[in-house]
Amino acid sequence: MPQAELLSLNPANIARAAALLHAGRLVAFPTETVYGLGADACNGDAVAGIFAAKARPSFNPLISHVASTEQAAQLVQWDERAQALAEAFWPGPLTLVLPLAQHSPLSALTTAGLPSAAVRVPAHEAAQALLRAFGGPVAAPSANPSGQISPTHAHHVQEGLGHRIDALLSAGPAQEGLESTIVSLLDTPTLLRPGTITRAELGQVLGVAPEVSGAHSGVIAPGQLLSHYAPGAGMRLNAHAKAGAHEVLLGFGPDIAGDLNLSQSASLREAAANLFDHLHRLDALCRANPALTTIAVAPIPPNGLGRAINDRLTRAAAPKP
Ligand code: TXA
Ligand code: MG
Repeated sequence: MPQAELLSLNPANIARAAALLHAGRLVAFPTETVYGLGADACNGDAVAGIFAAKARPSFNPLISHVASTEQAAQLVQWDERAQALAEAFWPGPLTLVLPLAQHSPLSALTTAGLPSAAVRVPAHEAAQALLRAFGGPVAAPSANPSGQISPTHAHHVQEGLGHRIDALLSAGPAQEGLESTIVSLLDTPTLLRPGTITRAELGQVLGVAPEVSGAHSGVIAPGQLLSHYAPGAGMRLNAHAKAGAHEVLLGFGPDIAGDLNLSQSASLREAAANLFDHLHRLDALCRANPALTTIAVAPIPPNGLGRAINDRLTRAAAPKP
């Protein structure tokens, strides 16, 4: 890919960046915490592009960025605690995890197949302008190759990802340099990732300081809690055909068609976009039919996005605790 289009902050360039997002392209943009690597959060193929660009060896759920509290409240099951935190800290460096709304438009790859979603309204004027122009949720992890430090200047993004993204909205440094504070409101408020908004500040709004993720178990790393989807059915990997009438087959490529196929043309990007949705559908089939117990999955090549797909399949196939 050629070097990313470098877009300075002006109305024509904001419109250009929003149009690229609508077309399923990748646009990096500044937020007050770090530069984010954005894609249309409702377009699985576009979100797969984020993981490909970052060369991330696994899929984790992404934060959906929106321009306003009203927009956030349409993606998740909003509640009074969320409203109080939004009034206190949005726009700003706070991410809220809530149950997914009934008919949420978010791609299953954005949420990594979870029944919850992370939402945030960033404060940076360039992020605000882009999100308002785009009009929908933008999935964005930090705009750095996997395993490298988070980008706070446009030139960091250019150096790390310049040839792997379509455009870069350049508007000076991200002021904070530390990723947003993440609070889960799925149950008792829980701090999943510390940030510049402190536990004490959150406590002042909530009436009680949030619990700290993993505080009781001592083993679960922050952010890992609640962040894995596994089907209820058993899984058998590297399957070339069904082993019996108890299996449904998730195919890949033209040779192993399957009951559902991740990508007829053997595109890893298409397979990534379909992965969680197809697993959910086959799992539902197994739940509805007691004779079906196992999802057999065709071999997925281990290169590029195939690494992340295989990582997720291996986790899903691991014995349940
Ligand atoms: O400041 C930030 O938050 C930056 C800017 C770009 O907004 N973004 C960022 O994204 O740090 P990322 O992908 O590096 O971190 C997102 C975190 C991950 O640790 C992920 O596990 C967690 O959010 N997360 C997302 N959805 C979740 C969910 N449904 N349940 C639990 N954790 C979730
Ligand atoms: Mg990150």
